[in-house]
Formats: sequence, C-alpha cells, structure tokens
Amino acid sequence: MYLHKELETMSRDEINAYQLEKLKSTITHCMNSPFYKKRFNQEKLSADSIKSLDDLRRFPFTTKEDLRATYPFGMAAVPLEKCIRLHSSSGTTGNPTVILHTRNDIEAWADAMARCMYMVGMRPNDVFQNSSGYGMFTGGLGMQYGAERLGMLTVPAGAGNTKRQIKFMKDFGTTCLHAIPSYASRLYEVMKEEGIDPRRDLKLRVLAIGAEPHSDEQRHRIEDMLGVKAYNSFGMSEMCGPGVAFECPEQNGMHIWEDYYIVEIIDPVTLEPVPDGEIGEMVLTTLKREAMPMIRYRTRDLTRILPGECPCGRHHKRLARMQGRSDDMIILKGVNIFPIQIEQILMRYKELGSDYLITLNREDINDSMTIEVELNQLFTDDYGRLQSLTRDITRELKDEILVTPYVKLVSKGSLPRTEGKAKRVVDNRITH
Ligand code: COA
Ligand code: AMP
Ligand code: ZN
Repeated sequence: MYLHKELETMSRDEINAYQLEKLKSTITHCMNSPFYKKRFNQEKLSADSIKSLDDLRRFPFTTKEDLRATYPFGMAAVPLEKCIRLHSSSGTTGNPTVILHTRNDIEAWADAMARCMYMVGMRPNDVFQNSSGYGMFTGGLGMQYGAERLGMLTVPAGAGNTKRQIKFMKDFGTTCLHAIPSYASRLYEVMKEEGIDPRRDLKLRVLAIGAEPHSDEQRHRIEDMLGVKAYNSFGMSEMCGPGVAFECPEQNGMHIWEDYYIVEIIDPVTLEPVPDGEIGEMVLTTLKREAMPMIRYRTRDLTRILPGECPCGRHHKRLARMQGRSDDMIILKGVNIFPIQIEQILMRYKELGSDYLITLNREDINDSMTIEVELNQLFTDDYGRLQSLTRDITRELKDEILVTPYVKLVSKGSLPRTEGKAKRVVDNRITH
C-alpha cells in the first residue's frame, strides 16, 4: 500500500519537524543561487531567520516573472556541470522559462512519481502506457522515469496517433494509462469507431489523469467509459513536473507530498494566508531540489486544503481539485498558453486591427481554440489573399503556442465591444 512507508505515514508533528530541518538547509543552499543570494541579502534574510515554519512567511515570493527575468540559468544553485537536464516552457516571443535538474533531482522526481503510482495500485507486473508529449512536456519523461522506477513495462507512446495508441493497448495488454482527461474521452470515441469495447477487449484498470482542470463528473464519465479507476494527478514544470500531488485510493483530494514541498494558500490580491479550507492561490516551497530550489513560488493555481484526516493513513495535506488560475493562462489539450503570446503574433500583421477574441470550445470530443481577429480594412473581395493570410497566421501561431487554432479574419468593427478592459478569452468548455 505504501512505497515509502516511513515518509508517507509521518504524523503531523513528524512532518513539521522534517520540514523545518529541510527548509533551513534549502535556504542555506539558496545562497548558491545568484538570484536568491541577492534577494535574501537585500532583505537581510538567511537560514537563521527560520526558527519555526511560520517564519517562512518573512521570505518574499518567487514568481514566473522572476524565472523569465533570470532566463536561462540565473536561478541555478549549482554549477551547470552538475545539471543533467532542463525543461523549458513554450514561447518564442517572450522569454520562456527554464527548469534545471541535477541527477539527484531526477532521482527524487522519479521516486515521487513511483510513490504516486504505487499508491493507486500500479505494480511491477503492470504495463504502463503514457500518452503525454515527451520532450519538453514534463508529463512525458516525468511519468516515464516514475514508471520505470516502479519496474513496470513501459510504453512511451507519446501524444497523438490515437488509433496506434489503441492498438498498443490491445497488443501489449496495457493495464495502466496516463492521459489528460480530454484525451481520455477522445481515446474512448476512437475505440468505439474501431469497434473496440475497452471493458471487453482491453486490460486497462488504472488511469492517471491531470494537467488540465476537470470535474468529478468528468472523472466518473471517463471511469464508466473505459472501465477504469481514474486518479487526479497534479504537477507543474517549476516543481519538476507530475508527482507533486496525487489522489490516493479514497479519490477524495490529492495528497501533496509534504516531504518534498511546503504548501501555503494565499489570497492572490492581499497575498495574506487564507483561513484553512478556503480557496486561494497555492504557493509552494521546495525542500529537496538541488539545481533550482524555489522559495514561496506563486503557482497561480487556485485550490484549497481539504479539512480532516484521510482514512488511507497518510497525513500529507490534501488539495481539492484545481478551481482555475489567478492569471490568464489557458490550458488547451494539455498545453499552457498565455493570450499575450497570441496577441504579440497578431500585432505583427499590418493587415490586422487590434481587436481579437479567443474562444475555447469543447465539441463532442474535441477541444479547440478559435481566434477571431478584425482586419484593418475590408478585404472581402480578395478571397485568395484572405486565405493565404489566414494560413500564414495559423502556421505562425501553431509554432508559438503548439496547438493549431482556427483563425477567422473578420471585418473591422464586427467583434463585440466591452466597456472597460477588453474581454479577450471566452471559455465554453465546462470543467467544474
Ligand atoms: N494528449 C495526447 N494526444 C493528444 C492530446 C493530448 N493532450 N491532444 C490532442 N491529441 C492528439 C489528437 O487526438 C490527434 O491525434 P489523432 O488525430 O490521431 O486522434 C493529435 O494529437 C493531433 O492533435 P490535434 O488536436 O489535431 O493537433 P494540434 O496541433 O492542435 O495539437 C498536439 C498538437 C496534440 C501535439 C499538442 O496538443 C500536444 O502536444 N499535446 C500534448 C500535451 C501534453 O502532453 N501535455 C501533458 C503535460 S503533463
Ligand atoms: P506544466 O508546467 O506544463 O506541467 O503545467 C502545470 C499547470 O497545469 C499547473 O500549474 C496547473 O495549472 C495545470 N495542472 C496540472 N495538473 C492539473 C490537475 N490535475 N488539475 C488541474 N490543473 C492541473
Ligand atoms: Zn489518502
């Protein structure tokens, strides 16, 4: 039931004592990072400032902007020759973010991921298939290393090629799968088209779903369709990737591994802690990271800590489903997109005006993004020119945001005007 019994079943007092010690050593280690050294010296903070866990609040937050400003290696707390991997976010218009890993970081990440998998019943005799993108998406290699650490037979199928994914599941007897919720639904639809009944023809039994917000209803629907138990999986590249928090067999909140992270929930406006159980922005401090420790990182994810003890015997706090974001990041098909990335590309075209609207839709099984953008002047009689312009813009956007949007050029003045701040994004997908 427990892969790391001692760590997983620590009492609250034991967790606090463990965290206090690790926090002090993390702050000491942060002094090797040019970024943190400067910041902590400015604020006259050091490991000596930490007498109890509450003293963490004296430290400033770390933000995505800090990551961008120190791109690519300005936050590293070890020399580059100690790093063996980096993961970087998309984005060519602004500075992307870079997360560095030492060998120990990768090992610790694999341990955390294997712990999550073991918790929900994955075992070495299972066949594990991963439908995440590999490469820079941490859901690829993160899940892969965890599954290998556990000793499962792994099928690193990667994203897309749905028919081939299904053939793999059938031929290799896949029992455990990682897929984002919207793609799990797509898999089922294509199975139906192929005449495959997952309950009859496949051996699937455990599904890890995450990377995008989804409701409990959506989870139940996926479980019914595929005949599996589905467990919510939370992670983010800044904290390594998947393996930060994961549902236990109780399926009632995700245990955040408190031997790896200190979690705080704050009001995103006042930046003060919210009372226990209330929704706010999650802030995380790493306790084991070598290459890039993070102190009070503002995740921008909105959630709350579930009150009470979990019957599974783990005292690590439980996070409720993510309720959205405190910034304007969009998650589509498991890919993170900021509207500014889109805007910066659109504004390069002299043929376009400055009004645009991004609409996210879920039609049957496909999530999609439509970008309507106003032309500067009317080209309606020049259909060929409009078509080639649409093609160019689509291609450039796909390079930037990694998913393919539907681009519609519309006449000037035809998009709805809003009072005050323009509404740029309409999300018609139902996720809560
Ligand atoms: N995971 C796996 N496959 C996905 C997917 C996802 N999140 N989203 C879409 N796909 C599949 C589609 O079903 C399609 O395959 P099919 O036609 O054989 O069914 C194929 O990928 C291309 O998708 P499409 O929507 O036509 O293309 P796009 O250009 O808009 O998107 C992707 C490109 C799929 C490559 C991009 O969305 C992607 O890489 N998504 C995966 C992100 C990921 O792994 N995130 C995990 C983070 S932990
Ligand atoms: P990335 O850094 O690409 O792995 O993306 C991390 C972001 O994906 C998080 O900050 C969340 O916004 C989102 N995310 C990851 N897991 C989940 C989940 N289980 N539910 C909802 N959103 C998630
Ligand atoms: Zn539990």
